Amino acid sequence: MQIDLIPRPVYLEYQEGFFQNAGLPGIGGDRVFQGEMALAAEQFRRDLGLPPGEAPGKAAVACREVPPLREGEQGKEAYRLTITAGGITLEASAGAGIYHGLQTLRQLILSGYDHNTLTIPALTISDYPRFPWRGFMLDVSRHFYTPSFIKKLLDVLSLHHINVFHWHLTDDQGWRFPVPAYPELIETGSKRRDLRNPQTPELKQFYTSGEIRELVAYAGARHITVVPEVDLPGHTKAALAAYPELGCTGGPYQVDDQHGIFSDVLCAGNDRIFDLVEAVFDTLAEFFPAPYVHIGGDEVPVSRWEACPKCRRRLEELGFERPRQLQGWLTARFARMLKERLKIPLGWDEVLEDTEKMGLPPELVVMSWRGREGGVKASSAGHPVVMSPSNDGCYLDYRNYDLPEEPGAGSRITRVYDTYMTDPVTPEMTRDQAALVLGGQGNLWSELIYAGRWAEYMIFPRMCALAESLWSPRELKDFASFSRRLPAHQKRLDMLNILSYRGPLQ
Ligand code: ACM
Ligand code: ZN
Repeated sequence: MQIDLIPRPVYLEYQEGFFQNAGLPGIGGDRVFQGEMALAAEQFRRDLGLPPGEAPGKAAVACREVPPLREGEQGKEAYRLTITAGGITLEASAGAGIYHGLQTLRQLILSGYDHNTLTIPALTISDYPRFPWRGFMLDVSRHFYTPSFIKKLLDVLSLHHINVFHWHLTDDQGWRFPVPAYPELIETGSKRRDLRNPQTPELKQFYTSGEIRELVAYAGARHITVVPEVDLPGHTKAALAAYPELGCTGGPYQVDDQHGIFSDVLCAGNDRIFDLVEAVFDTLAEFFPAPYVHIGGDEVPVSRWEACPKCRRRLEELGFERPRQLQGWLTARFARMLKERLKIPLGWDEVLEDTEKMGLPPELVVMSWRGREGGVKASSAGHPVVMSPSNDGCYLDYRNYDLPEEPGAGSRITRVYDTYMTDPVTPEMTRDQAALVLGGQGNLWSELIYAGRWAEYMIFPRMCALAESLWSPRELKDFASFSRRLPAHQKRLDMLNILSYRGPLQ
């Protein structure tokens, strides 16, 4: 009997016999893991469509606190799962490890439950992640996804041990969270009109502070860190529509319904932009317990800065030769503001350009998206790196396959195979550089992903492949093995009501 787990565990050995149970087994164990145990019991019940309040069977699953199974941070996520005819034992030193072990058990239950009887082969699993950052990014500006849909996604992503949710909260097409001192960010910035069809109603779409808190808690219970992104200083037309005095031309600006790169960005010569950014960072620090705040930094045209008297004056005062240097100056300034709030800045790989003499802090994390070169360069300069190369398996808005009926962004293709084969550590990296690679991430940009169902189709099974790429040891990576396990795993996704792509993988 094959158990077809994704991601593939580090160590798995089958034993003689089976664990069998009439109905769902109850979960018991050490009190420190009460939260994880209660949540898993609820997940198992819901997955199988069992009614709430049903008395669970005898506590055949025992969760035990043990000394760390690995050294360092990895130890917190490590777990050991032992399944015998007599019962199931899960051991870990921390809640994260217990949660991951329970998600592995969840996969076994999804596949092993039939006619009210659970059957799982006896086995031993010893497991821990290759990388600490196993991320997924959702763009909620181009298309707004509801809190309940995001919860559904996070729950299923955590089944694959994904542990970072990068929430792309602002862009030209909408600002999605309230900042008390700047009410127009929501009043104006979260509203979008179809500019080509002005008779259609305007949509006001944002997350309330209550919804954000609830989502952060929901993710936290699943050992997922939520990393908010506010894209600065470009991709800011929604903010400029709300506060036009912060742009170089003074506007007026509109929340955009077209896609692309727009020349209107925050005016680097206007100190009032820092008041707005201070307020934004205060709000993020209040809502998000994660140590990281993503400040964007991608795709910033300098044409407005070149023409703007205030920006030219700033350039002269700072003794810079090129307008691009203003971006590095802004990045350094934003990073300082975050440091004051005990937060670590993250930016897209453009944040490193033209930044000699800029004093970027070494803790600035670089997210490499235009390829892997940005990550290689960042790690050689001592920055931690998250790899999310658009040309190497990590862009989930790209089509799954080169077939005319496949939805997605233009002619660009990310096959399941590409996602599986991507490796955040590149051959040219030294050991020291490789040690700075936190992990990798799949990104779903939503310009053309108009609905949650559609998002599911783009995310799965590519995130299953990426999860294995980021969790399992490199030596165990084997696309043929993954392909053999995938059909059984996609039955699990079916049971969880997830729409997944089923065309060619390679
Ligand atoms: C990006 O795809 N513009 C980061
Ligand atoms: Zn300006």
